[in-house]
Amino acid sequence: MMLEYKELIANDEIYFGENDEGRPKLKRFLSQVKEGITWTTLWDFVPLNTAASSEMAQIFGNLTTFENPKPVGLISHILEVGGSNDAVILDFFSGSATTAHAVMQLNAEDGGKRKFIMVQLPESCGEKSEAYKAGYKTIAEIGKERIRRAGKKIKAENADKEGIDQLDIGFRVLKIDSSNMKDVYYTPDAVQQRNLFDQIDNIREDRTPEDLLFHVLLDWGVDLTLPITQETIAGKIVLFVDDNALAACFDADINEAFVKELAARHPLRVVFRDAGFVSDSVKINIEQIFKLISPSTEIKTL
Ligand SMILES: C[S@@+](CC[C@H](N)C(=O)[O-])C[C@H]1O[C@@H](n2cnc3c(N)ncnc32)[C@H](O)[C@@H]1O
Repeated sequence: MMLEYKELIANDEIYFGENDEGRPKLKRFLSQVKEGITWTTLWDFVPLNTAASSEMAQIFGNLTTFENPKPVGLISHILEVGGSNDAVILDFFSGSATTAHAVMQLNAEDGGKRKFIMVQLPESCGEKSEAYKAGYKTIAEIGKERIRRAGKKIKAENADKEGIDQLDIGFRVLKIDSSNMKDVYYTPDAVQQRNLFDQIDNIREDRTPEDLLFHVLLDWGVDLTLPITQETIAGKIVLFVDDNALAACFDADINEAFVKELAARHPLRVVFRDAGFVSDSVKINIEQIFKLISPSTEIKTL
């Protein structure tokens, strides 16, 4: 007993009051009483910098990619306190994408179906930075690469966990850009001969079928995370969303044979390029063709 007391004193674990003359009391350190304490601030919850920088090191090795990432533990705690396990989490200041990492980590832990939306400006990393020299020109690039690597790491670390193969670590990257549509609205005095050709096909030349598809998904309020597959039908590229919830073909020279073949797939919705038909009569007939073959299909042109 005496030995233990002396040891406690030697380890500075006894408190004798302000002027060291008080009744001896055992000191209780924060690390000893962590359970059951309600934290006054979230920052008390996790050791900030150590966790975050070592987490980034586990992902990017010695490469310093991002100055002030938040610890995954802190974000996980916030998500557990503030959201359900199928919540959609929006982080408007993504940075190194810690929130996405935390979402995948939590889903792996509790089988949740949380989704994340990470918003990040294409802020440059700065040409002198290690990240830039390593090929990460913007912070967005760092965030994307972290999600890829963290997803794989979480799956590997939980490889023996039942259902881990169902863990969704995929993500889509969408960029805000100018409209896919050409400016076709001119005041009469502003119309010039060359503008008339723009009236033929109102879609900007540099836009891909994917650009146009997401335009339509947003227009129709369709979930942007649904699976998308691409098929070639009668030589035309067709994008199918969520199997055949939506079929989109933005190719040119669309003829009746192709329309009939696509209608036979009975998509719930179908969208074509407005100027994509081989003739006006085909364009006029598509409604009749779908009425005959797939009457419940909703038709749209862009
Ligand atoms: C403090 S950092 C976020 C760090 C992040 N929580 C992490 O753990 O890595 C803020 C980030 O927000 C980005 N940002 C600032 N203003 C923005 C805006 N208006 N829209 C999108 N991103 C923005 C900055 O480029 C920076 O990467």
